[in-house]
Amino acid sequence: MANLDEPALQFRNVDYSINGVPILKGITGSFPKGAITTLVGPSGAGKSTLLKLCNGLISPTSGDIFIDAKHISTYDPIALRRHVGIALQSAPMVKGTVFQNLALPFELQGRELSEQDAIEILEDVGLGRDVLHRKTDGLSGGQRQKVSIARTLLNRSEILLLDEITSALDRNSLHEIEQLIVNINRKYGSTIVWITHNLEQAISIGNFTWVLIDGKVMETGDSDLLKSPTNELVKQFVQGDYR
Ligand SMILES: Nc1ncnc2c1ncn2[C@@H]1O[C@H](COP(=O)(O)OP(=O)(O)O)[C@@H](O)[C@H]1O
Ligand SMILES: [Mg+2]
Repeated sequence: MANLDEPALQFRNVDYSINGVPILKGITGSFPKGAITTLVGPSGAGKSTLLKLCNGLISPTSGDIFIDAKHISTYDPIALRRHVGIALQSAPMVKGTVFQNLALPFELQGRELSEQDAIEILEDVGLGRDVLHRKTDGLSGGQRQKVSIARTLLNRSEILLLDEITSALDRNSLHEIEQLIVNINRKYGSTIVWITHNLEQAISIGNFTWVLIDGKVMETGDSDLLKSPTNELVKQFVQGDYR
């Protein structure tokens, strides 16, 4: 269950600039443990940048990030990547089979993945054992995204970051992926931070939402806030009138 008093991830006054250009400005807030929080906002608002800060791919220009109440800088980088997994819209794969793609991150960590563990994780994402030795370039978009999620799940990350993972999918695959993320959230109690440009999805799937506009958090709260925002810019954004 989501525990509001126990943030999995916490931002305190975080700024991030590239070559002196501010991208994120004064970000403060938290992602509750065990909850699904969606991140929405116009393209270029800084959503993907915020996600990259969460697993240490980039570091704040100033301010502090805490993961499970410990400063992000105290984590060993490899342990951090395992604790905080990320899945992207592009679902990047190496040439080869599904099994090879699932095993690769393990091999990079000097570990070995058994076929049995691979099959179990594929079942978690609704894929059968028959895909295990199929080449990934023959998979559909939805199947690729499932393999990508399965690969992230293998680390048993407590926090999952999802960046527009359903944006390129047809409606059926989109609903399948939504359902499997909700199931993972329930089964493992994972904390999920999900960037989406689909507001309907943000309302139906998310427990909470953050609206990011021009590098700032404009509004946060229960995802129903997207139905009746109070901030003028957020209103314009949900009505599709922003800029
Ligand atoms: N590596 C980079 N170099 C220069 N500008 C960048 C870089 N990454 C992101 N930006 C800029 O930061 C802003 C936020 O980008 P991003 O986080 O990708 O937004 P979003 O995911 O909300 O669309 C954009 O204006 C983008 O052009
Ligand atoms: Mg983005």
